[in-house]
Amino acid sequence: MFGKRTDSGNTPTVNVPPSPAAAHPAAAAGASVPDLKIGGSAGFGTGVAAPKVAPPAPAKPVEVEAKHKSESYYDIKSTIFNALIDAIDLTQLGQLDRDAARDEIRDIVNEIIALKDVVMSIAEQEELLEDICNDVLGYGPLEPLLARDDIADIMVNGANAVFIEVDGKMQKTGVRFRDNSQLLNICQRIVSQVGRRVDEASPICDARLPDGSRVNVIVPPLAIDGAALTIRKFKKDRLRLPDLVKFKSITPEGATILEIIGRVRCNVLISGGTGSGKTTLLNCLTGYVDLEERVITCEDAAELQLQQPHVVRLETRPPNLEGEGAITMRELVKNCLRMRPERIIVGEVRGPEAFDLLQAMNTGHDGSMGTLHANSPREAISRLESMITMGGFSLPSKTIKEMIVGSIDVIVQASRLRDGSRKITHITEVVGMEGDVIITQDLFIYDIVGEDAAGKIIGQHRSTGIARPHFWDRARYYNEEHRLAEALEKAEMRDAKD
Ligand SMILES: Nc1ncnc2c1ncn2[C@@H]1O[C@H](COP(=O)(O)OP(=O)(O)OP(=O)(O)O)[C@@H](O)[C@H]1O
Ligand SMILES: [Mg+2]
Repeated sequence: MFGKRTDSGNTPTVNVPPSPAAAHPAAAAGASVPDLKIGGSAGFGTGVAAPKVAPPAPAKPVEVEAKHKSESYYDIKSTIFNALIDAIDLTQLGQLDRDAARDEIRDIVNEIIALKDVVMSIAEQEELLEDICNDVLGYGPLEPLLARDDIADIMVNGANAVFIEVDGKMQKTGVRFRDNSQLLNICQRIVSQVGRRVDEASPICDARLPDGSRVNVIVPPLAIDGAALTIRKFKKDRLRLPDLVKFKSITPEGATILEIIGRVRCNVLISGGTGSGKTTLLNCLTGYVDLEERVITCEDAAELQLQQPHVVRLETRPPNLEGEGAITMRELVKNCLRMRPERIIVGEVRGPEAFDLLQAMNTGHDGSMGTLHANSPREAISRLESMITMGGFSLPSKTIKEMIVGSIDVIVQASRLRDGSRKITHITEVVGMEGDVIITQDLFIYDIVGEDAAGKIIGQHRSTGIARPHFWDRARYYNEEHRLAEALEKAEMRDAKD
């Protein structure tokens, strides 16, 4: 329609029904409970000295990770935990709701404390009870971290090292697991929710928590110091473009331009490093998709939160224990072409599906989007090229480049700077080819000027002075050209003031 798309037809060859690997919380309850015995072996019947426990659970979440519990606390907890496991019918417990199960555990733990003559204050008992309930019913020591909404990532490197990312900064916490087997046990419980297991035979697994948080587990022998668990916390209140403006990740004018890019159905690639905010940005852009449009999303682990009524969400599936039944991103993207999509959104492009996404963008699915790992728009283009080359498509380099130019309109670059702040560092257009080289033009960039005494990066967003971006006609078609011109002009005025 705007002279950019080519007319190459795409004929999907694999007819794979969408089989999202949905979470199966029900499977978890039954499967996980018997595993509980694995962890609790130490310290049974130990002498009952007055326990040296940490202070009661603090009200302020920030203090949770500062708390280091003593060895004797873990000994006592083990003793009581083992006695509880012997006393309780775990299958029945699994059928109770969480509050009833907690009451049941509370009664038995109190009895055990009395019977074993453990001397504890009420506050210490409460803390012990909380810990034990978390172990039996939830994700053990991770529970207080999972309950916090300010954490972006939780990273467990073996039983004694748990890190979190808050406000873009990495922090070590005081949270620890009793031992590696308790950690493994919790990993097992998490992955059992998506019907999988992790063990020596299949030591890597992706899963999702019931709240939507994305989880990766890798266990020994591949993880040398005990299981490594990485959780990308699901944000209940999803970030929107105005939030990114508030965080100074982008200027208001930059945000307006992104909004227009999303609305006028530009094909967009969002590029960025790990945890730089790609998915968040994709989510923001999808906020400007019209309500009537039929959108199909393809993801490895569903993270996008589209608000439109007409959305089909698809998820890839890893192979089962026999190594069969995997559904790849490529198969999903190909299949979704048969589902009459208006826009296709690919959570993360990392392999040969790049080819199919470009084909889709090229053949009438304007406004399709995807994210990709790269450190600059230029690098994003070369990554795209190598994904296609490595996907086994024997196309000449020039053809691949032409395909990219014909498909991608805009590359938005997200970056996590070294002070932990996240910025949109480029809004770049793909404009054409000169010989064998793809030509791009930046509309907006973020310049780093220096660093203040506190290590905070000083920099500013600036427009590059382009008054008529390449997608101007497209903006006009959607009646957005005035808003676009105004945003570009305001951006220039802001630059002049700065
Ligand atoms: N502009 C921003 N300002 C502050 N926090 C942000 C911003 N963008 C994203 N975040 C937060 O950073 C974390 C990582 O964001 P996101 O999941 O979008 O990154 P990603 O690049 O998709 O990561 P991955 O490479 O792991 O897929 C999330 O907790 C998100 O809420
Ligand atoms: Mg992501």
